Amino acid sequence: MPLGVDGLARTIDRRAFIDESILDIEWDRVFQPSWQLLGFSGEVREPGDYVVRMLGRDEVVVIRGEDGDVHALHNSCTHRGTRLCRASLGNTAHLRCSYHGWTFANDGRLIGVPARRSGYPPAFDRARYGLPRARVVCRRGFLFATWDPQAPDLEEYLGDIAWYLDALLDCGAGTWEVCGPPQRVRTRGNWKIPTDNFAGDGYHMRTTHHIALDQGIYGDTLADGTRGRAGTDLIAVNIATPHGHAVRAAYALPRGSRLDDRDLTAPRFPGYPPRRWTDLARAQSPEQVRFTSHCEVAHGVIFPNTAFLSVAHDRAIGHDDDPLTRYLVIRAHLPLSARETECLYWTLVPTAMDPAWQRRSYRFQARTQSAGGILFEMDDFENFARIDAALARSTPGRSSPVDLSLGAGLGTPVPGFPGPGHAETATLSEHNQRAFYHRWSTLMGELP
Ligand code: FES
Ligand code: FE
Repeated sequence: MPLGVDGLARTIDRRAFIDESILDIEWDRVFQPSWQLLGFSGEVREPGDYVVRMLGRDEVVVIRGEDGDVHALHNSCTHRGTRLCRASLGNTAHLRCSYHGWTFANDGRLIGVPARRSGYPPAFDRARYGLPRARVVCRRGFLFATWDPQAPDLEEYLGDIAWYLDALLDCGAGTWEVCGPPQRVRTRGNWKIPTDNFAGDGYHMRTTHHIALDQGIYGDTLADGTRGRAGTDLIAVNIATPHGHAVRAAYALPRGSRLDDRDLTAPRFPGYPPRRWTDLARAQSPEQVRFTSHCEVAHGVIFPNTAFLSVAHDRAIGHDDDPLTRYLVIRAHLPLSARETECLYWTLVPTAMDPAWQRRSYRFQARTQSAGGILFEMDDFENFARIDAALARSTPGRSSPVDLSLGAGLGTPVPGFPGPGHAETATLSEHNQRAFYHRWSTLMGELP
């Protein structure tokens, strides 16, 4: 069965979410040629600092070498294959295998072999036994990596989505700092389920997250069930790129107005303190301001499995006195199997903001959109698990494809939208998910 009907990926075969044989193909055709997020340079600041992460199906030691560069080394000894590094993070002068003691430098070179002179033939060449290294690029503190020597450069790979990421980061008026190691949680369900959710699913808000909306976490619930403040409309713009990356940005505007009606001589950055708005605008280009001004929430996906969310909150549950705040969370959705996913969450805070604001931003993120948060993750994960259970157990259900037609053909192009890519307004649309699955199905080919 073809994965995308008429090439637009409006339906997906349900086996794509449950079958291990499909994941086996995905490792080679989707993950292998892609750039994936390993973490942030702030996690490995000093020479010898390391974290252990997944790159595709392989574990890598992400380590800062004595040369100051960050390396991603296959976490497997080149002698018998023993897992070298068993801690999830730390600092080390070298990596020494627990089996026979081969020792590797922090850049992957084999530098020590017990009994090398007495036990190995003279032709034994240590240089041939270095740890395999992935390509690593640090972009604005984000550590991206790929195993594929043929993969395009990161900038080419990111394409248009880089513009939107930069706009969100520049809106912080400086550099960003990662708040410690990521939170990690396992969820039932295929890795594509949370990923397509982040690509652009505004549709589930009114049902899945109605409790959060009722609590006023985003201000008032509007008549159409979306969030916002009384007297406002939420206007969402969906932007998809041919690479499968996507972003959805939503703007709360006075009822009846259009995006063009915003007064950009007085830009607004919801969640940031109004006294900082002039500085924030100055840190961006006029085009970036046209994207970020009045934006309540922006979320999206860097294909295949990196997601991001920048959102303003009116209040955090349990901290009703806290003023309006914003947070930025970056996520990786890592397949553990076809039916289980590990989610990593990193919170980033702008260094230009004062420490109290940074703490509040981190707290809002941790209390809502995180493994231990109230409402959002619990609500979403419950649905992801239900999807998994139903798809896996229901034989009749396997024959009907998953539908992606919401808003198809109904979006309105946004002429003059400041960013690249195909932008259209439709508050409820699966435009971005179609782009994500279209890229995925192009890489995968037809299912066997
Ligand atoms: Fe690592 Fe033998 S397996 S030194
Ligand atoms: Fe959700």
